[in-house]
Amino acid sequence: MQILGIETSCDETSLALILAQKQNQRALPKFKIIKNLISSQIKIHAPFGGVVPNLAKREHQKNLPILFKKISGQNLNSNSLKLKKFLKSINLIATTIGPGLEPALWTGINFTKEIIKKYKELKIKPPKIIGANHLLGHLYSFLLDSKITQNKIKSQKEIFPAIGLIVSGGHTILVVMKSLFEYKKLGETRDDACGEAFDKVGRMLNLSYPAGPEVEKIAKLGNPKSIPFPRPMLLDKSYDFSFSGLKTSVFYYLRDHKEKIKDLKFKADVCASFQEAAFEVLIKKTFKAASEFKAKSILLSGGVSANKTLRKKFNDLAKKEKLLFFVPPFVYNTDNAVMIAISGFMLMQKNKNYKLQALADLNI
Ligand code: KG4
Ligand code: ZN
Repeated sequence: MQILGIETSCDETSLALILAQKQNQRALPKFKIIKNLISSQIKIHAPFGGVVPNLAKREHQKNLPILFKKISGQNLNSNSLKLKKFLKSINLIATTIGPGLEPALWTGINFTKEIIKKYKELKIKPPKIIGANHLLGHLYSFLLDSKITQNKIKSQKEIFPAIGLIVSGGHTILVVMKSLFEYKKLGETRDDACGEAFDKVGRMLNLSYPAGPEVEKIAKLGNPKSIPFPRPMLLDKSYDFSFSGLKTSVFYYLRDHKEKIKDLKFKADVCASFQEAAFEVLIKKTFKAASEFKAKSILLSGGVSANKTLRKKFNDLAKKEKLLFFVPPFVYNTDNAVMIAISGFMLMQKNKNYKLQALADLNI
């Protein structure tokens, strides 16, 4: 089955074409990525220190037809045989309908509607259309881990039950998965998302948006044990998180040490200690859940999972606890349409669908 994925929930316009192969009930689905196109708007939003919804909308509207031409070889308004052939080859279109910025979500949805119109105009039977959940996209991106794509892990039995942690710029969510299709949210952040805290701390240090990768780079030069920043909710019984207090502690620390702010070693210690505090909470809560639910594996996803220190900490502890650890390759940590195509495929298997209507606050 050939799937076209469309992602416009935030500041990346992405179109992807994948082949999906359904397996028997116990095996894991297989995906082959044909194309993954991402047009990032980071430079446009950077001067504002965050994503500006209406600018994002304008950029998505500009980029979608360009990416469509790149992926299909044809303009959507052409009537060529080549376009017909491309449209006929698609069995499913999966488009993000939420969560995300409402004006940005609508651009992907409206573009999908334009594609459907084209099928009708050319008298071709339209493919199945699925409104996809962006968070499920992140969660299911573990299926792109090389242990699965290279057939080292073949059956669901080896993976489930699993604990999934989604850590992005908009979300921090812990999920228990009993099987590929049965998942339940255990907890989430009560205030800032983990990536958002990275971005805000970066802003305090005059780093450019999004600051996660930059904070990681500077942190490598610092001592993670030098400043005892708080570990919010670490001892709380729930699986919820909170990163706003940690961010505020960094703010006060910087205010009280103004004279050192330009010193690279000082900055590095702040970044390393902040990162250490945030990661300790993520790791302890995830492994506590793994023990409570007798999980066989940990699934890490979302933009913050691109952080090598975090990946290593998870990998090392998972090994020690005799758990499998899955994380997608770097390109699929941050927003992309491959994970949306996968999430559409999984929703289809589950006979679930969302209407083509933006749901900015959609949860898992
Ligand atoms: O998943 P994503 O692309 O978008 C959302 O769905 O939110 O995540 C983006 C977030 C940003 O907050 C960014 O600063 C953070 O992921 N991020 C990182 C790293 N790379 C991206 N945070 C920490 N370390 C990184 N290397
Ligand atoms: Zn995301």
